[in-house]
Amino acid sequence: MAEPGGQVKGLDPSPLIVGESAVIAELRQTIDMVARTNATVLVLGETGTGKELVARAIHAYSPRAPRPFSALNCAALPPTLADSELFGHDRGAFTGAHVDRPGRFESAEGGTLFLDEVGELSTEAQAKLLRILQERTLERIGSTRSRSVDVRVVAATNRNLARSVADGKFRADLFYRLNVFPIQVPPLRKRASDIPILANHFLVEAAARLGKRLHGFTESALVTLVAHSWPGNVRELRNIVERAAILAQGTRIGAEECTPMLSPDDDHEDTPVRLCTLVEAERLHILRALERTRWVIEGASGAANVLGVNASTLRSKMRKLGISRRG
Ligand SMILES: Nc1ncnc2c1ncn2[C@@H]1O[C@H](COP(=O)(O)OP(=O)(O)OP(=O)(O)O)[C@@H](O)[C@H]1O
Ligand SMILES: [Mg+2]
Repeated sequence: MAEPGGQVKGLDPSPLIVGESAVIAELRQTIDMVARTNATVLVLGETGTGKELVARAIHAYSPRAPRPFSALNCAALPPTLADSELFGHDRGAFTGAHVDRPGRFESAEGGTLFLDEVGELSTEAQAKLLRILQERTLERIGSTRSRSVDVRVVAATNRNLARSVADGKFRADLFYRLNVFPIQVPPLRKRASDIPILANHFLVEAAARLGKRLHGFTESALVTLVAHSWPGNVRELRNIVERAAILAQGTRIGAEECTPMLSPDDDHEDTPVRLCTLVEAERLHILRALERTRWVIEGASGAANVLGVNASTLRSKMRKLGISRRG
């Protein structure tokens, strides 16, 4: 995958959305459906949940995939530069504008423009963006020439945009234009069954990067990870696994190596650690048995026997909990 913020030329290897929970399966389906359309998408979710990954996946699965994907962090733009960055300018439009310069919309022609932190756009930039979404044309700053734009917009925010509208900080008409197809990315604590799967995925990546032989987590490490509330969501999990991989002495990551780092929420010693639910514990335990038996269900050394249930009971539980072997 390309580095965040980068402009991608040509086909990007499909971004991999890891996870087997029901909400992630639904998310994949939604992405697949909306990718075929040109609808404007608004990706909502807490920090680190994977909003940019979703935006990249929408582009990668769309007919626009061979064209550019351009990511712009609206929060990192000083308001005075935002307009010219987005819409471009003509020579002499303002002091320092020595040459004609296309904006992000024009450079993303035929492709997808990802407007990250869209809630941070200035009032003027909001008005211009609204016009583009309505009329599919733009004028560079300092120019009266109208250019048509064929760009699919995917916007994201971790703010409650509806509240920003109520507070008068975000234009209601733009909000409705962006909110054509909202996609809510759930926080990690609401899909705890994905934690071990994501942790293993990041461990394989980290091991390859570090050139270390690392073969998964101890059971207590997984329990520690599943019990954490993950205020920084998937990004926080990725960072912790990365750190654990660096610290690891043996080939398995132990609980002591993956103690979550202090997060802003945890500044009180008495912050209760969230216990995983019974369903999460059951899922995790079944997964452990399946991993240990190499997904053999029946027979003396199969997972059903290890767990002390019939093979048919185990199969029905697996269906109910959405457990299946990944390719
Ligand atoms: N389901 C997932 N599978 C694999 N990797 C994921 C998944 N979700 C998130 N990630 C990874 O976690 C990190 C954070 O994701 P991303 O940058 O998309 O989050 P975000 O919602 O845009 O965060 P922010 O609001 O802070 O900008 C990235 O490295 C991303 O690749
Ligand atoms: Mg982001």
